[in-house]
Amino acid sequence: MNQIELKTLLADMSLEEKVYQLLQVTSGFFNQETVLTGPMRDGGFSEESIAGAGSIIGLFGAKKYKEVQHTYMQQQPHGIPFLMMLDVINGFKTVFPIPLGQGAAFDPELAGRCAQMAAKEAAVSGVHVTFSPMLDLVRDARWGRVMESTGEDCKLNADYAEAIVKGYQGEDVSEPYRIAACVKHFAGYGAPTAGREYNTVELSENTLRNFYMPAYEAAVKAGAKVVMASFNTLNGIPSTGNRHLMREVLRKELGFEGVLISDWAGIEEMINHGYASDRKHAAELAMNAGVDVDMMTGIYSKELPELIKEEMLPMELLDEAVLRVLELKNQMGLFENPYKDADENLEKEIVLCKENRKLAREAAEKSFVLLENDEILPLKQLEKIAFIGPFVDEKEIYGAWSMLANAEDTVSIKEAVLASLDDYQITFAKGTPILGAEDYQLVPDHIAEQIAKEQENLCLEELLAGAVEAAKTADKVVLTLGEHRCMSGEAASRAMLDLPAIQQKLLNAIYEVNPNIVVVLFSGRPLDLREVKAHAKAILQVWMPGTEGGNAIWNVLKGQAEPVGRLPISFPYCVGQVPVHYDEFTTGRPYKDGAKERQYLSNYRDIPNKPLYPFGYGMGYTTFSYSNLTLDTDIMREGETIQASVVLKNTGANHGVETVQLYIRDCVGSVVRPGKQLKDYQKVALNPGEERKVIFTITEDQLSFYRADGTYGCEPGEFQVFIGKDSNVEEFQSFVLK
Ligand code: GLC
Repeated sequence: MNQIELKTLLADMSLEEKVYQLLQVTSGFFNQETVLTGPMRDGGFSEESIAGAGSIIGLFGAKKYKEVQHTYMQQQPHGIPFLMMLDVINGFKTVFPIPLGQGAAFDPELAGRCAQMAAKEAAVSGVHVTFSPMLDLVRDARWGRVMESTGEDCKLNADYAEAIVKGYQGEDVSEPYRIAACVKHFAGYGAPTAGREYNTVELSENTLRNFYMPAYEAAVKAGAKVVMASFNTLNGIPSTGNRHLMREVLRKELGFEGVLISDWAGIEEMINHGYASDRKHAAELAMNAGVDVDMMTGIYSKELPELIKEEMLPMELLDEAVLRVLELKNQMGLFENPYKDADENLEKEIVLCKENRKLAREAAEKSFVLLENDEILPLKQLEKIAFIGPFVDEKEIYGAWSMLANAEDTVSIKEAVLASLDDYQITFAKGTPILGAEDYQLVPDHIAEQIAKEQENLCLEELLAGAVEAAKTADKVVLTLGEHRCMSGEAASRAMLDLPAIQQKLLNAIYEVNPNIVVVLFSGRPLDLREVKAHAKAILQVWMPGTEGGNAIWNVLKGQAEPVGRLPISFPYCVGQVPVHYDEFTTGRPYKDGAKERQYLSNYRDIPNKPLYPFGYGMGYTTFSYSNLTLDTDIMREGETIQASVVLKNTGANHGVETVQLYIRDCVGSVVRPGKQLKDYQKVALNPGEERKVIFTITEDQLSFYRADGTYGCEPGEFQVFIGKDSNVEEFQSFVLK
């Protein structure tokens, strides 16, 4: 359809038909299996509104989609098809690493390919829109949804934002195997007070603009078709009713012209926030803020007709919202072909195909971060290795948002090892379940009940004893530890960042009989790894690696693939340090860990300032040296650039891929600036002994920020340039911007 035809259609629609276009309900209302991702309350839906709902969430499967769409369209006065939306967060059925793990690859191009793969699987299964990428900057590991972010850095997040949106959408969402991206959660949802889910967010304008906005901006600039309003209040106003944030910032400043959807029941929850007095007031606030679609409440469909009839809201506002929904359907080509890519045969051919598994394995291998290695990895053939721990044969090694993953499609570590045993002498022992009774509180109640039932006939003492025996006779122990997949994700905040207690006991028991321990760590968040570090000679952080996790882990452990990941988020010394992030301001009384003088300086009396493992950190199977940090000039004038370079050398015995990181410090600003900020990075592969000059170009845009007067740009003065292996790099060269 063209724009005139769309507007003609709009003009011919009744008030009720228009309002129903703005309702989104789960497929459960259409007697279909659904994935529930929010509380089911009595939304006050009428039969008519459900029958006319403009979009459905939670439906998947080509056959089912086509059946529901066919019946649905026959009931519509103008035959308008519904939009199908789903949380395809880290893959559809072929599951790749959680976004935090993808961020560790420092490889947005790879994440883009994964998004494209997910879009293809989802599209042939009937999905039109995914509620991804989640672009909330996160500096607090207590918050469970840290697993959905790509970490604590605004530059890295912005790079991933662009790549993932383009991976899903391509250049034209009506093209085959393309789906629309939904940027979420606008805005600032990743900074809940005390890391507690759904809690209040207080961000200064400077912090919001300079740290939390860049990723959202990059996604909108990349053409994201949908944005989701966040649950939280931002500086006292719920995003769902925040007219300034949505109409002034998102639409006017960022130029977003797509569909703005509430989060699940977000419109109704403005009553709980104390911002709306009742459902009718909530409808008025959300519509005035420019929220187009009401996810999972009946507020819009019930209250908007009255608000329009009572002239509390102008019809223009309603028409504007409905037109944006119709435009999205039109951009997807649904008026010409309401079934788009849905195809049962293609579904069988594409979903979980070998090519997709291969990509998932590559993404997993590149997401792993080697945190410690005291010359114990890679494992050598003929060594006697005991694989111990609750993840040895665990197949649910995918993130909490892997709605459609099936454990039977996943490769466990044990399956991977047995499939390519080579000349290794391997034994397996579980040692403990992931959670003991004292840890059940760390997962949702229904999961805890399921785990408790599974453990009814389990003899924990025998399990542990078997593992200790296996460890005693092994040369090395690969000890698999970590969080249950449901310990992170939505509504999964934790006040402590420890391993489950039962696993701590296993770690201690194994260490007593064999200190040659390689810990493989599964988690959706940074954990407090002090105890693990004290008991292990190697630590491989594997996040939640997805469908091909076992193969990827075995490949890296035996050196068939090298660990190339770098931390996209700081691992705190302990939870007391949180929120901790590398790009902090220096304060007026800076303190450097280890300095003798501590009094009246910014430090803790009982722990260091620095995290246990810093942003950008990671090891490989070789070593690198950095030398000759050079700037091609020490004066930069308007419109000019500076070349910064370093000589990188592989000083080890193995091939290696180094993530060379460029950081810049703006020494004086009209608002204070971070001690350093990532401005660029390059992955450089070198053979043993090989060296290469790595060159970066420094531009004015990299020096720009939202200044004290709210304008965006750079300011003259001194800048320091760092190039190194992680954010702890200290050597710098200076230049002056004139
Ligand atoms: C959830 C989440 C949001 C998700 C939506 C639909 O509450 O906050 O990220 O996309 O509901 O499942």
